[in-house]
Amino acid sequence: MDRELSGRAAHMAEIGRKAEVQMAEMGVDDAFVDRLVETFYGRIVEHPTLGPVFEARLSGRWPEHMAKMKRFWSSIAFKNGAYAGKPVQAHSGIDGLQQELFHQWLTLFAETLRDIAPSPEAGAWFMASAERIARSLMLSLFYNPADDDPALRPKLPAA
Ligand code: HEM
Repeated sequence: MDRELSGRAAHMAEIGRKAEVQMAEMGVDDAFVDRLVETFYGRIVEHPTLGPVFEARLSGRWPEHMAKMKRFWSSIAFKNGAYAGKPVQAHSGIDGLQQELFHQWLTLFAETLRDIAPSPEAGAWFMASAERIARSLMLSLFYNPADDDPALRPKLPAA
């Protein structure tokens, strides 16, 4: 049992080391993760449609949110286990959260990366991660099996 546990710890440490090397090659470090979160949420607050949705939920709690989001992106990038939360639950019941807002969120994230990513590879890596997570959040929040009903698919005009 002990051997199993220490084997697992060694495996996790190895994953973390590999992630650090991969991030370093792209120019990503802790300072960049902090800057990404600061810059992105600075723009979120200014955004005409995203800003009010965040503000309504996070008013008075922004410092905690920022610290949490730094831990979140740190754990995605460095696989260091810095974040342990429940994103799906956290996004349930946010007033005014619609699928369209996710597209705006991703656009703003892409613009932020374009402006501040330390390398094109880093920008592409963070964008791909955000898209993957956004897709899974959207599925859990908005998926409607009825949308998959073949009878409801739009009919293509005959060629
Ligand atoms: C339109 C899109 C989005 C909106 C409006 C939104 C809004 C929010 C809000 C208001 C919170 C704070 C919840 C609370 O503490 O009460 C939150 C938390 C969080 N969001 Fe989003 N979010 C969006 C998309 C995303 C995406 C695409 C990601 C990941 C790539 C993400 C990751 C997170 C995480 C990790 C948390 C912390 C969850 C926890 O408490 O552990 N969000 N979001």
